[in-house]
Amino acid sequence: MQIITTLAELRAWRKALYQQNKQVGFVPTMGNLHEGHLQLVQAARAQCDVVIASIFVNPMQFGENEDLDAYPRTLDADKTKLIAHHVDALFLPSVPEMYPRGIQQQTFVEVPGISDIICGTSRPGHFRGVATVVSKLFNMVQPDQAFFGEKDFQQLQVIKTMVKDLSMDILIQAVATERETDGLAMSSRNGYLNEMERKNAPNVYLALKSIRIAVEAGERDYRTLEANAKAFLDNKGFKTDYVTIRNADTLAEAHPADTNLVVLVAAYLHTTRLIDNLHFRI
Ligand code: PAJ
Repeated sequence: MQIITTLAELRAWRKALYQQNKQVGFVPTMGNLHEGHLQLVQAARAQCDVVIASIFVNPMQFGENEDLDAYPRTLDADKTKLIAHHVDALFLPSVPEMYPRGIQQQTFVEVPGISDIICGTSRPGHFRGVATVVSKLFNMVQPDQAFFGEKDFQQLQVIKTMVKDLSMDILIQAVATERETDGLAMSSRNGYLNEMERKNAPNVYLALKSIRIAVEAGERDYRTLEANAKAFLDNKGFKTDYVTIRNADTLAEAHPADTNLVVLVAAYLHTTRLIDNLHFRI
């Protein structure tokens, strides 16, 4: 696996692949890789001739009181996993390589509307940071396809919207959420949980599943289902940010006529913010 740290090296690497007419698949990450990330790598490996991953803990998408400094950095273990999954190249830009003018640089990518709801309400500026870094990474890597997890459902929609609105010639591939055997969605932030919190955490998935079961059984009072699930989680010791049933295409609040649905949850266990969602059709 080739390790690339500068934009100049990356451009040279990419130019050679154009000459060979290779399909390039890209998996952007912030590292601390787990089986969820590796599912994206496997999908890229199956679809593309060449696979490049990136690890960059993007300061622009972290809020002032968020976990930028504490975010787990496990580069050696990450490299071993990527090599075992036959990744061809790993892009590891430094913060100055990514933001030569600093993160207060004057050009941002904003996807209004969809960025301002759900997680955007509690994390102002977060999706602007994500859209900006992902568009920069796309300009740098110039992939044919890029792979994102459904785990971050709103992020996936923001990126799909950005790609469409800015006419980017990149196919965005969505990969299903990888879970632990007890249902907890895999996440780098799960490492923050203590033993008791870890045992409690799968209740998020239980809450999501109970809503799906009720909707599949014909229940259409979505606001009551949301309130009941929130009460269930709060009762288990979570501080629930939101439980919301949405139209999966638009992320607008779901109405009884909608058929493509997603239920999204964000809930804190102490200071750890867990997010999860369940996407289904009725
Ligand atoms: P990160 O949290 O490292 O996630 C990288 C990719 O892995 C994202 O597309 C995310 O949705 C996916 N992923 C995480 N957990 C998953 C799981 N359990 N199952 C399937 N896919 C999963 O998301 C980011 O980084 C950043 O915002 C990034 C897009 C890299 C921009 O900085």
